[in-house]
Amino acid sequence: MDDQSFKQLKAALDVTPNNMALLLLVVKTHYLREEYEEAAKQIERYPSAHGENSEFCLLAGNVYLNIGTPDRALEFLTSNEAEICLLRAKVLLSLNRLDEGHSAYKAAIEKNAALEDPHLLALLRSNIKEIPSRSGGPKLKVISNDDTNEEDVERLVEPQQERVTFDSVGGLESVKKTIYKKIILPYQKPTLFQRFKKRVGGGILLYGPPGCGKTLLARATAGECNADFFNISISDVLDMYIGESERKLHALFEKARHSSPAVLFFDEVEALGGKRQNTRDGTTSKLVSQFLSEMDGFSQNNHGVLILAATNVPWSVDAAFRRPGRFDRVLFVPPPDQLAREAILKVLLDERPNDGDIDNSLIAKLTSGFSGADLRELVESAADAAIEASIESGEERAINSTHFKTSLQEVRPTTLEWLTTARNYARYSNESGQYDEVLVFLKRHGKK
Ligand SMILES: Nc1ncnc2c1ncn2[C@@H]1O[C@H](COP(=O)(O)OP(=O)(O)OP(=O)(O)O)[C@@H](O)[C@H]1O
Ligand SMILES: [Mg+2]
Repeated sequence: MDDQSFKQLKAALDVTPNNMALLLLVVKTHYLREEYEEAAKQIERYPSAHGENSEFCLLAGNVYLNIGTPDRALEFLTSNEAEICLLRAKVLLSLNRLDEGHSAYKAAIEKNAALEDPHLLALLRSNIKEIPSRSGGPKLKVISNDDTNEEDVERLVEPQQERVTFDSVGGLESVKKTIYKKIILPYQKPTLFQRFKKRVGGGILLYGPPGCGKTLLARATAGECNADFFNISISDVLDMYIGESERKLHALFEKARHSSPAVLFFDEVEALGGKRQNTRDGTTSKLVSQFLSEMDGFSQNNHGVLILAATNVPWSVDAAFRRPGRFDRVLFVPPPDQLAREAILKVLLDERPNDGDIDNSLIAKLTSGFSGADLRELVESAADAAIEASIESGEERAINSTHFKTSLQEVRPTTLEWLTTARNYARYSNESGQYDEVLVFLKRHGKK
């Protein structure tokens, strides 16, 4: 709306102050223009005009929240409609009245599950945890039934790295889409999915040739979910003393349960869940059993906890892992196709000085069979050449296509060997079609 018409509108309101529709329009326009003080002035001019109009109440609530008078906002947010309850939760959060905020949030979601906002919920909840408890530190209380203390668990979790999202993952569009549909969406709207009796949580196993982005995808998934991401270092979980590994594993799962929403990521999971018949000593098989029972525990009592695992030797992973309720979603992360390679090259080059006329699509064409990691090596080797040239000439030289010529001769693709092995498993032991995706991939790429 231009300024002139807005002015006329306000003049009209002066004449017919009880025109609710007009008042709403004026306030809304101020609000959209971020003129909160002005909006508030209009609201205050006609304190009785709003009556039971919930749209008006929502608007007023937002206006007062924005100008920092949450108490006044609350006066408008008294009804029990879902959206009003949600806004009330936000306002109560700003007043640090967390318990009431939490109830308001629950009331809102009860009425309309599509309003779920995990971030708001986390804020309302996390602070509740900060209330000091007599036993000293609520976190210690959280890990019950065993004597693993907090620092012990911290040590098993690799430090959180910076947040990664799907934007940093080049290509792999169909995998990303599947992950979005099957993982992220149910995760953001858990109650909605629960209504339809869809399970949230559980496990996803990513498999594929080395260096094709499994670890990266797992981190990006956590980033997209906006969840705590626990990258578990398996070598630290494995312990030579009998029973110790199981105890650590249990403590980790407990920690995740109590910090939901959370993602537990077990990279190279075959180290933990190798086929039980492969190992004669009972220790590893006990660990597998422990892992399985922790996962089963999830399907019964956990929402908002996701277990991600990755492996490049799926055929060594115990079949029991793939039962429903455990890693029932198994996704193949294929070597990047030409378009994906181009996208990966772009991601990799954007973060380094380059002279802008490198033909990514040509390089992508020449690098069939290269994994993401191979491409990274390729770019790094080109960068080395550019650094060398810079040192020689005494000024910074950007990476250009000449640098790639040499590196293209040095770096070799690494995915072919994996695909050959996978093809044999897909042909001769494709129980319940678990490697179908690999077969489809091979067929599409003409490798027999
Ligand atoms: N799709 C991609 N987009 C951008 N970078 C990628 C992609 N795939 C791989 N890379 C690069 O390759 C590196 C190795 O990828 P990542 O560690 O995710 O592979 P992986 O599948 O987990 O391999 P491994 O099986 O050896 O653990 C990443 O750090 C990243 O820089
Ligand atoms: Mg990895």
